[in-house]
Amino acid sequence: MRTARDGGKPECDGIVWPEWPVYGDEERRAAAEVVDSGKWWYGDRVARFETEFAAFQDAAFAVSCTNGTAALRMGLAACGVGPGDEVIVPPYTFVATALAPMLLGATPVFADIDIETANLSPESASRVVTERTKAIVPVHFAGLPCDMEAFGKLAADHGISVVEDACHSWGSKWNGKGTGAIGRCGAFSFQMSKNITAGEGGILLSDDPKIAEFARSYSNCGRRDGAPWYEHYILADNLRMTEVQAALLSVQLGRLAEQTAKREANAGILDRVLADLDGVSIPPRPSAVDRRAYHIYLFRFTGEGWTIDRDEFVAALDAEGVPCSSGYPIPLTRQPLFADRRFDAGGVEATERLCREAVWLPHTLLLASAEAVERAGAAIVKLARAYR
Ligand SMILES: Cc1ncc(COP(=O)(O)O)c(C=O)c1O
Repeated sequence: MRTARDGGKPECDGIVWPEWPVYGDEERRAAAEVVDSGKWWYGDRVARFETEFAAFQDAAFAVSCTNGTAALRMGLAACGVGPGDEVIVPPYTFVATALAPMLLGATPVFADIDIETANLSPESASRVVTERTKAIVPVHFAGLPCDMEAFGKLAADHGISVVEDACHSWGSKWNGKGTGAIGRCGAFSFQMSKNITAGEGGILLSDDPKIAEFARSYSNCGRRDGAPWYEHYILADNLRMTEVQAALLSVQLGRLAEQTAKREANAGILDRVLADLDGVSIPPRPSAVDRRAYHIYLFRFTGEGWTIDRDEFVAALDAEGVPCSSGYPIPLTRQPLFADRRFDAGGVEATERLCREAVWLPHTLLLASAEAVERAGAAIVKLARAYR
């Protein structure tokens, strides 16, 4: 059968993939209620969403804020990160993971990832720890939890804090506990592309009341609960979430468990297709993962036996009507921003390789019907038949 790239009929012809965000009358009503209440500012709805989200991720405390970058910065600041400190981050992530320490005057130090999971390698991270290391930021990339036992041990051995970048992992659970609530604290994003969204938004979770107290003050101009309004105690920021955002997020959170289950089931369909093909590789699912978010369905096109390369594969899959991309083109270490900074002391070969091999399918594809996802799988099989 001719592929769409070679002039054939696209395998997914006629499929309309779900759009993002998913919303309905509940969001409309929630936003309208806030408008009509006249109470738009940092009130009951923010408090309610913080309680709901903390419970959903098994955390004792939650402090909302304006975005995921701010949540990471707030978490790092709460762990005492400041000028002169080093913070270990992966190079296969959105730039915000490394920006957050820089915004506090600290230096991001890149360790490499594990090529199989796309997550920061604890072993690589252990090699770049110095006496200046204050924190480590594992990113649960695409929603797959990092090896939190290994990072917990590394942190305990060196007296450093684990600040989880959970900006892809709403709903993921590792050994019975939600991501973001496993390390000292964890940051989430609710930006437009994210699996629950209010357009923008963020939150920091922690089981430590001291971290929560600091974050509350840091996000609210250095105020202290119970203290006079115009008293300010710490160098801080205004990172407050609005009532409209919180109202939308409460509704979005109500959809999340079901959507996560659907994405997991549909990811299973693709996993079964890809497991049978040579020249592609899917990440493992460690037994400690009780539930996993899919912000991205990521696999590697390693190319053995194929007559096309990764970029041609992505173009061919796109032509079959499957939304896809090749993700980050280069490791963060090669971004102009980091050109003059200390980084990748141990090398980032696995990240370089993943940038050459990754194929990303968006989480919205996993919200389609099982039949549609099977057709996406059939498109991959069709390409394998044509180009292997
Ligand atoms: C892994 C990761 N960390 C942090 C962020 C920052 O979140 P925000 O865009 O809400 O600042 C993002 C957002 O894309 C992300 O993907």
